[in-house]
Amino acid sequence: MKSILKAILTTGLMLYCSISIFAADISIKITKKYLNLPISQRQDRGIMTFEIAGKQERSFKIRLATGEPEYWVFSDVSAYKGKTIKISYDGDATGLSKIYQDDKIAGQDSLYHEKNRPQFHFTTRRGWVNDPNGLIYYEGEYHLFYQHNPYEREWENMSWGHAVSKDLVHWEELAVALHPDKLGTMFSGSAVIDYDNTAGFNKGKIPAMVAFYTADNADREIQCVAYSLDKGRTWTKYEKNPVIDSKEKWNSRDTRDPKVFWYKPGKHWVMALNERDGHSIYTSKNLKEWNFESHVTGFWECPDLFELPVDGDKNKTKWVMYGASGTYMIGSFDGKAFTPETGKLLYTTGSIYAAQTYSNIPESDGRRIQIGWGRVAQPGMAFNNMMLLPTELKLHSTKNGIRLYNLPVSETEQLFERTNQWAGLKSDDANQKLKEFNSADKIRIKTTFKLSHATSAGFNLFGQRIIDYDMNNNTINGVFYSPADMTSMELTADIYVDRTSIEVFIDGGAYSYSMERKPVDDNKEGFHFWGNNIDVKNLEVYSAKSIWK
Ligand code: FRU
Repeated sequence: MKSILKAILTTGLMLYCSISIFAADISIKITKKYLNLPISQRQDRGIMTFEIAGKQERSFKIRLATGEPEYWVFSDVSAYKGKTIKISYDGDATGLSKIYQDDKIAGQDSLYHEKNRPQFHFTTRRGWVNDPNGLIYYEGEYHLFYQHNPYEREWENMSWGHAVSKDLVHWEELAVALHPDKLGTMFSGSAVIDYDNTAGFNKGKIPAMVAFYTADNADREIQCVAYSLDKGRTWTKYEKNPVIDSKEKWNSRDTRDPKVFWYKPGKHWVMALNERDGHSIYTSKNLKEWNFESHVTGFWECPDLFELPVDGDKNKTKWVMYGASGTYMIGSFDGKAFTPETGKLLYTTGSIYAAQTYSNIPESDGRRIQIGWGRVAQPGMAFNNMMLLPTELKLHSTKNGIRLYNLPVSETEQLFERTNQWAGLKSDDANQKLKEFNSADKIRIKTTFKLSHATSAGFNLFGQRIIDYDMNNNTINGVFYSPADMTSMELTADIYVDRTSIEVFIDGGAYSYSMERKPVDDNKEGFHFWGNNIDVKNLEVYSAKSIWK
């Protein structure tokens, strides 16, 4: 009972349709930038395929709305201008006829002004994000690639989304950089600039930006290479991919998330790769052939490995290795093996996951800059999750040994203006002063408070515990934390509140954490210090600007 409808529409948009309830196709001659696609979370996922002249260009899972869409997503088809795309769908295809092309994405006019759009954190226009990938600075631009499902607000169709920024604060989202292919979906990875043309991808004087990613397929996870000669805008996948296939060696399909960097003393490339139960080190002279060197157990997903000066002294450095969870080890590295000199340590917790640091930061800058994925739901939005504030990582000597510190990069200062400052308040006074800020959708608050009669104290927002400090158990929000000077009885917190998230940096970055900001319920309390007889020694309020126009 296949009903076939053929139609040709004018206005430069030609549409040939053959639609049935199950499995069907339409053809659209591309004259505009985007195809807008209607979504309903209530529909099952079906497979949609874009085909040009019989060749498959894209294939992805999507919940095509049959009735009124809950939201719209889009596919940037500017690369196909002038060509006719055949769009087929193997699910309930009633919604195919609603797909339309335009130079605007559906909902463009309210973009970045949506109710629950974070105002000073990166979020994608439409769809899902998780791990930051391929963080690299090149010719004035910070690139942020990221795990992305362009077609739904949930995880699927892993692709590398792409955004660029001149200051790590204001972002411009570009077209998807890496789409799934026949080797699999595009899992996490990293990027380098191959200045010496070790891989042979360079064109004349243009050095290749080379990306390393995991292709994930039903059978295995394999490591692949792609390169770009136009600052990350378009990518060519290496024809001999994969470059590492280690499933059999590890008897595990968990081999993923390559992080590559240039090891200057040895004049070779290093890849940290998560394999089964920890991070492996591979080396290469040409980015294509990789030799296994060593393995450190006890890490899961998203490795990073980098050298940092201790207390800013470039002659005294240590290496830091971490995984996705926010735990790390400090040690030494000889280009082939990381030797831990500490046990597992913790510098950050909460919604952060899979953080990565930037490569190719100029030596004159020298910072180790990190971005972490914020596992923060964006209720009711056509996009989901976010990136946390970019931070700078440093090693400091403490009474307990060398520790990793983490604070927002100085570029974020431009977003916050101090509007009020008070010193020496009792908590009731402080709560009074904060009343006028209770309705702020975004704000930054810095405070130092001191305990006297109590062993616990904290700071709430509408009943949500932003800080719950227990000096007896040495915990902050349930996680062990001991200030450098336990006798001071003080805690300092720098708190960034955006529409849907809260980030807290304790004692100058000795520890940090993040959480979802809970919607306001009937609790009228607003910002609120609690704890018996505490002193609010310092309280600063900052207004926050939006990063979006
Ligand atoms: C971490 C992770 C990575 C993987 C990616 C897939 O969040 O599981 O290990 O590459 O996400 O999206």
